[in-house]
Amino acid sequence: MLNLNITRPDDWHIHLRQDAALATTVSHAAQQFNRVIVMPNCTPPIIDQESALKYRNHIITNIPSNYKTQFEPLLTIYLTDNTTIENIKHAAFDKNIIAAKLYPKGATTNSNSGVTNILKIYNILEAMEKFGLPLLVHGEVTDRNVDVFDRETVFIDKILTDIRIKFPNLKITLEHLTTKHGVDFVLNYNHNTAATITPHHLLLNRNDLLVDGFKPHYYCLPIIKDSPNQQALINAAVSGDPRFFAGSDSAPHVRSNKESACCPAGIYHGPNTVLVYTEFFDMQNKLDKLEAFISFYGADFYNLPRNTDKITLIKNNTVIPDNYNYLDNAIVPFWAGRTINWSFG
Ligand code: DOR
Ligand code: ZN
Repeated sequence: MLNLNITRPDDWHIHLRQDAALATTVSHAAQQFNRVIVMPNCTPPIIDQESALKYRNHIITNIPSNYKTQFEPLLTIYLTDNTTIENIKHAAFDKNIIAAKLYPKGATTNSNSGVTNILKIYNILEAMEKFGLPLLVHGEVTDRNVDVFDRETVFIDKILTDIRIKFPNLKITLEHLTTKHGVDFVLNYNHNTAATITPHHLLLNRNDLLVDGFKPHYYCLPIIKDSPNQQALINAAVSGDPRFFAGSDSAPHVRSNKESACCPAGIYHGPNTVLVYTEFFDMQNKLDKLEAFISFYGADFYNLPRNTDKITLIKNNTVIPDNYNYLDNAIVPFWAGRTINWSFG
């Protein structure tokens, strides 16, 4: 049996939700990762240091006892039209807060408090650049007239390029990258610009989402793109370029909502994120590139030390469960019911 011994991974983009949800999501994350960057799109959103530290305490309370000493949630604050320079200063000097997240208002789940016009926060971006607080970007425009498949490309051209040029020392992570245009954007800048890539955007294209019936558990934002865009992401992930690293965007929604007339966006990886990434690198015959992608490059980008402990992955079947208990309902993970070739040692 093939064994892979790799440095313990981190997940540089995850949604843990809040309150009772944390019992499930924190346990699933702590089983695999040392560090996770926690998205702030809770209700109400995590908009400042005070709410971030409260949220952090709730998360920590939910870490299972055997992972208490190793699991570290890194918090983010949610940018709004009302974010102040003081908010940025406090966040930047708090080691528990790693970044601020830009949601264009209305772009996705719980983004109603998001930024309405990027020009309104240029002074905030300037402060982030000055105090060294990285910017995490949900890179989609929300204009109703822009096709949902083009929203990332239009965001890059109309909004992100100007930010990149105006704030050259601001660290920017283009989250959950979905297009070749996005890959090229990142490649165009030799430092301070990076992107996370999810397992699902690597493993799916829009035929998987839409042919033979719409698959609600493959619906997320930014929406899964076509095969040429998927191939550009695959090439970036296996290239060994440190500007591309793991961020699962694991985003739980209860089964009854996902399988309803208006399915919310979000794909849940639960405790299987590392196995699914491993399956992907194996399918590409690039297992030699897995460790750096999930365990090194994110830490390097955020100037954090690489983890020193190891995990073992074994080439042995795992059946992904049909669902997990979640809140008073169930949650269906990505690839539910499917047998994959990798398991934890
Ligand atoms: O699919 C998504 N789900 N994309 C996002 O940007 C947000 C996330 C969520 O919070 O459910
Ligand atoms: Zn997300």
